[in-house]
Amino acid sequence: MDMGKGAVVVTGASTGIGEACARQLDAQGYAVFAGVRREADAARLREHASARLTPIMLDVTDAASISAAESEIARAVGDAGLKGLVNNAGIAVAGPLEFLPLGELRRQLEVNVVGQLAVTQAMLPLIRLGHGRIVNISSVSGKLASPMTGAYAASKFALEALTDSLRRELRPWHIHVAAVEPGVTATPIWQKSLQAGDDLAVELPPQVFTLYGPAIEVSRRSARHHAKGGGTPPVMVARAVFHALTARHPRARYPVGRDARIGTFLARMLPDAALDRLLGGR
Ligand SMILES: NC(=O)c1ccc[n+]([C@@H]2O[C@H](COP(=O)([O-])OP(=O)(O)OC[C@H]3O[C@@H](n4cnc5c(N)ncnc54)[C@H](OP(=O)(O)O)[C@@H]3O)[C@@H](O)[C@H]2O)c1
Repeated sequence: MDMGKGAVVVTGASTGIGEACARQLDAQGYAVFAGVRREADAARLREHASARLTPIMLDVTDAASISAAESEIARAVGDAGLKGLVNNAGIAVAGPLEFLPLGELRRQLEVNVVGQLAVTQAMLPLIRLGHGRIVNISSVSGKLASPMTGAYAASKFALEALTDSLRRELRPWHIHVAAVEPGVTATPIWQKSLQAGDDLAVELPPQVFTLYGPAIEVSRRSARHHAKGGGTPPVMVARAVFHALTARHPRARYPVGRDARIGTFLARMLPDAALDRLLGGR
């Protein structure tokens, strides 16, 4: 197999940011292992890609799937190992925390946090071999927790912590670990999250809507707006990922998009009371 400039794994590459990263790295001459969960996505990814791009079945919540993916990648890359791992797979669970079914919170954390570390643990021997780097796709929600997205924000705050600890733990081996922190990005995640919200709504007691109806509507209105394509193009996030993987002096974190930069600044500068007034309900 042609390894080009080196091999990189991207999780959750079927759509959105992951697909943009996979295509960008492929175009730049890397051998990309693009994680997907459906054959149809594998076939679509192969279109307009070089022969170096290999779709690979990878569910980040399934230990057997991670292990099978790691074995396949290890066989293909041999002693060259990996130049990079982009932990991108993610979902967005929304709803008021008072009523959020705990199973939904667990699902959110399982995909966005535990899954990221599970894949990282599996790939680290190959990253050591290849003197590679790790990039975690976090979010401005890892800095600023808004109402109705507490579960998602919890997952991204946790991912920020994992990223920082891992970067400091792996420092002796010069394995860089970066967090890419996009703001609103134009991807299918918004439509998927709205759909998941519809599915959840039928399970919740009517009281939820009496108490939180207006706040839910504000949150859904903005999600509907983003689902129509409002936001930073995913290719901008892919550019930050590329910098984190290849630059001589990679940064520890990369806010992407004006909203992410402003959000990060406000989270750092404003006192909690001001943030509560800005983001909170009546
Ligand atoms: N879009 C934004 O505004 C935004 C902002 C900040 C951060 N982010 C982050 O960016 C990352 C990518 O999201 P996106 O916006 O590009 O959304 P997306 O288009 O919905 O992509 C999410 C990807 O994750 C995959 N995925 C979900 N569950 C998985 C699992 N258990 N195992 C493996 N893959 C799984 C999906 O695969 P399937 O197609 O098989 O479901 C899909 O490929 C996420 O971590 C998200 O939190 C997004």
